[in-house]
Amino acid sequence: MNVIECQNLDVRLGSRIILSRLNLEIKENQFIGIFGPNGSGKTTFMKALLGIIPCAENKIKILGNSPYKARKQIGYIPQYRDMESFQLAGREFIATSIRGHKWGLPFLTKQDLYHIDAVLDHVHAKELAGVPLSEMSGGQRQRLLLAQALLGNPQLIIMDEPFSNLDPKWVKIILSLLKELQERRGLTILLSTHDLNPLMKVMDQVICIGNQKAILGDVNQVMTSDVLTQLYGFPIEVVKTDQHLFVTTAC
Ligand SMILES: Nc1ncnc2c1ncn2[C@@H]1O[C@H](COP(=O)(O)OP(=O)(O)OP(=O)(O)O)[C@@H](O)[C@H]1O
Ligand SMILES: [Mg+2]
Repeated sequence: MNVIECQNLDVRLGSRIILSRLNLEIKENQFIGIFGPNGSGKTTFMKALLGIIPCAENKIKILGNSPYKARKQIGYIPQYRDMESFQLAGREFIATSIRGHKWGLPFLTKQDLYHIDAVLDHVHAKELAGVPLSEMSGGQRQRLLLAQALLGNPQLIIMDEPFSNLDPKWVKIILSLLKELQERRGLTILLSTHDLNPLMKVMDQVICIGNQKAILGDVNQVMTSDVLTQLYGFPIEVVKTDQHLFVTTAC
């Protein structure tokens, strides 16, 4: 089954067309990197898939449904989230979104607590359960967001620059964890980032966003010096070795 389908989709913000006539089909069990310059529309695209930015009816299907109906099957990490002002500990913060809860702290059953502790364990953050958010580092908060996105066993996880606060060790740990989840549960993962290198080994496909278009392709097809230089309007070189692809600025 297609996890995401966009048919002739236009995405607008106010009177501006940000993305025009997108046609995409994404299957289950895919790890997809989303690239594109600042302001090209990555966040806008993700918000359209989530139904946060409304689009014409039936142009987006998530797991066969409208984005609104599919929302409980999607885990989401936004690009920005103010967490410093939360007067909550890690476990309570995750609980704020349990069972699609919208406001305040829900009553937690034993089973809820079990699920919350399981997602904390998944992201190696059990030690953050009792720590107030205001006392956590940026990277620790980022791991909590990931734990929250995993709650409820989503079929699709959408992550908007989730590595911006993580050091290289944690990027590697979280990427391995995501890859394992993808393979074990058949999840589809969409992840945007400006640091292309860590994703090279885990991605199945790539979406390039630029000039109002979003193009889906295989890694070897898209991650080339020509495609990336054209996309970013800046010289970029892709260097291939026996086992690796590296992206670097050419000057
Ligand atoms: N409310 C709005 N009304 C009109 N245009 C907007 C609005 N919000 C953002 N934009 C514009 O939409 C375009 C796409 O923004 P978006 O945040 O999706 O880009 P992005 O690819 O995620 O960029 P970045 O890499 O910087 O996060 C930008 O040109 C931005 O200026
Ligand atoms: Mg963005």
